Amino acid sequence: MNIILLGPPGAGKGTQAKILERKYGMIQLSTGDMLRAAVAAGTPLGRKVKELMDSGGLVSDDIMISLIGERISQPDCARGCILDGFPRTTAQAEALDKMLAERGLKIDHVIEMKVDEDALVKRITGRYTCAKCGEGYHDEFKRPKKEGVCDVCGSTEFVRRPDDNPETVKARLAAYREQTAPILPFYREKGILRTVDGMASMEEVSRQIEAVLNGN
Ligand code: AP5
Repeated sequence: MNIILLGPPGAGKGTQAKILERKYGMIQLSTGDMLRAAVAAGTPLGRKVKELMDSGGLVSDDIMISLIGERISQPDCARGCILDGFPRTTAQAEALDKMLAERGLKIDHVIEMKVDEDALVKRITGRYTCAKCGEGYHDEFKRPKKEGVCDVCGSTEFVRRPDDNPETVKARLAAYREQTAPILPFYREKGILRTVDGMASMEEVSRQIEAVLNGN
């Protein structure tokens, strides 16, 4: 099964993708994580996209389509993918359909995570992750069980994203409204779009997503 999690920055796409990955063994394909890894490694791609990401703009369709095209060709994706952060434009959505069809695959569910924009700045500016295993935390909504120690791997090092500041969040929200939200009708017309309440608790959002995956 291949699914897309769609929603503005901070909607909880990454949080829910990781839960699904653990529970169902599907693979999370986060284009944001892929780009951040390229930036951290200082690759030519990373150098090209760093400034744009820091400003909250979208990376070009050509780059993103080729990045995801390479990734979905890997054997582990045959188990099913959770697309987190892709597609983000109509061109990306159309290219994804084409790439999947060439491999005899398709998108089964598109899950829109509906959230109140006012809550997103708080969610994003309070977010941090384990520097070792990438587990996500939040200053208020998800603290480690033992202060300063990752629940998953025990590391004591945490990092915050450079684009998680109020100014950049505004630019990222504008990019979502102007370039990403317009792809919702593309999937609505195909009859595969469902909406969940992204403002509910993490557990409740998971329950709603699972209901969609189970055909309810
Ligand atoms: P990307 O990394 O995809 O960032 P994003 O879409 O802005 O999404 P986020 O990772 O900020 O949010 P999320 O929805 O995953 O929320 P999370 O689960 O962490 O992209 C970064 C950049 O890369 C883009 O700006 C662009 O430049 C570039 N890029 C990437 N893909 C691209 C593409 N396809 N085309 C062009 N450019 C691309 O949750 C947030 C916080 O809230 C966490 O702390 C979490 O603990 C908390 N939280 C989650 N759920 C809940 C809940 N239900 N209740 C309370 N708190 C919650």
